[in-house]
Amino acid sequence: MPAIVLVGAQWGDEGKGKATDLMGSAVDYVVKFNGGNNAGHTVVIEGEDGTREKYALHLLPSGILSPNVVPVIGNGVVVDLEVLFKEIEGLEERGVDTSRLVISASAHVIPPYNRTLDKVIERFLGKRKIGTTGRGIGPTYADKMNRIGIRVQDLFDENILRQKVEAALDVKNQMLVKIYNTRAADVDLVVEELRSYADRLAPMVRDTSLELQKALDADKIVLLEAGQATLLDVDHGTYPFVTSSSATAGGACTGSGIPPTRVARVIAILKAYTTRVGEGPFPTELFDDDGETLRKTGQEYGTTTGRPRRCGWMDTVIGRYTTRINGVTDFVITKLDVLTGFEKVPVCVAYEVDGVRHDEMPVNQSDFHHAKPVYEHLDGWWEDISGCRTFEELPENAQKYVLRVEELIGARVSAIGVGPGRHEIIERHALLPD
Ligand code: GDP
Ligand code: IMO
Ligand code: MG
Repeated sequence: MPAIVLVGAQWGDEGKGKATDLMGSAVDYVVKFNGGNNAGHTVVIEGEDGTREKYALHLLPSGILSPNVVPVIGNGVVVDLEVLFKEIEGLEERGVDTSRLVISASAHVIPPYNRTLDKVIERFLGKRKIGTTGRGIGPTYADKMNRIGIRVQDLFDENILRQKVEAALDVKNQMLVKIYNTRAADVDLVVEELRSYADRLAPMVRDTSLELQKALDADKIVLLEAGQATLLDVDHGTYPFVTSSSATAGGACTGSGIPPTRVARVIAILKAYTTRVGEGPFPTELFDDDGETLRKTGQEYGTTTGRPRRCGWMDTVIGRYTTRINGVTDFVITKLDVLTGFEKVPVCVAYEVDGVRHDEMPVNQSDFHHAKPVYEHLDGWWEDISGCRTFEELPENAQKYVLRVEELIGARVSAIGVGPGRHEIIERHALLPD
């Protein structure tokens, strides 16, 4: 069976967690392939009695909530072990079985000094800051590339771990003390902290690439779930206002050890409007009452840091770019219900930069900073759409909105979210291959 990739189409928080959870009953493995606990995926599960249970996942793949799924933390992820075990304990307390979780021996761990560095670097940057989540993500990926990272497999041999921490701290303590004017990290304390997790971690650790290849050979369905999103990707995003990992479809292969030839489908999750957390350019951003309405109605406050999300209209230049970079086969448009009640719903179809029209993402960062959206103003709708379960049940103007966006982004819209709950979705085309 093939592997399926699921990515975020914009700047994150599109509803990837909900979409993954939706597919949970039909897939065998859900693999997180990039990022760490900078992610925040909210999944809302409705009980038969109408109650709603809300889960906020940061490090664990969203598939952990589906009883038959094997959740996998791939080699491309950076793991904060304290967060990992807190999240596991939190779920176990709520009756979720986490015993199937497996973790790649090659995933990197976030050592405590990188959490410190992330925060002091941001402070040091002042008004040039990125607005990171402060979880140590950037410094840990930098260590990986600098070949002074600590991997999950290093935790099981104290001598090796000590050598690696010493090598890392030779460099990093210079940075902490001499550049950022803060305290040096102590090798013994770091080794002790990391070793304290080793026994609990050991039974979960595997060659996950091998396990996943065997699963594919045995006709299992593997879903590769991105953290973050296309425009936060370190290569293809709005650099330098990005995260430090590969959040696009290409990253799914490097971050899991599954080759591109096994990927059959790429599903992108696209919010019906746009949001962004942290700094960086955002052409369709709204600073008026409409922006406030989107934030309030869409509950746009960060799952990880609680920061209010910046809000704006749908940008189909970004949509087209996402289709191209990821090879998107299917889109899921989420939160269409949040657009209910606007007289007109603007859709950005192109940019104008210094009097020149751009139909594609400008390659030059300064141009993107100056891009002014060219809007088409579509007619809005007033009906509550949260109960709609077929496309035809949607008000005509909501249908027209979806069809126009579909035309502009260049790949089919296979599902439409009409509420946060697991079942509040319209499926137009099957998301999984037969
Ligand atoms: P992720 O990081 O991509 O998984 O997205 P987040 O969980 O950070 O943010 C998406 C939010 O929108 C969550 O609170 C979801 O419960 C919610 N959500 C997802 N799909 C829909 C939808 O179709 N309608 C509404 N109203 N909320 C949704
Ligand atoms: P999910 O998976 C939205 C943003 C941060 C910051 C930038 C770099 O929930 O969609 P980092 O801590 O990664 O070095 O921060 O990336 N960011 C996200 N924004 N959703 C996320 O994840 C994000 N993960 C990181 O706000 O601008
Ligand atoms: Mg999120």
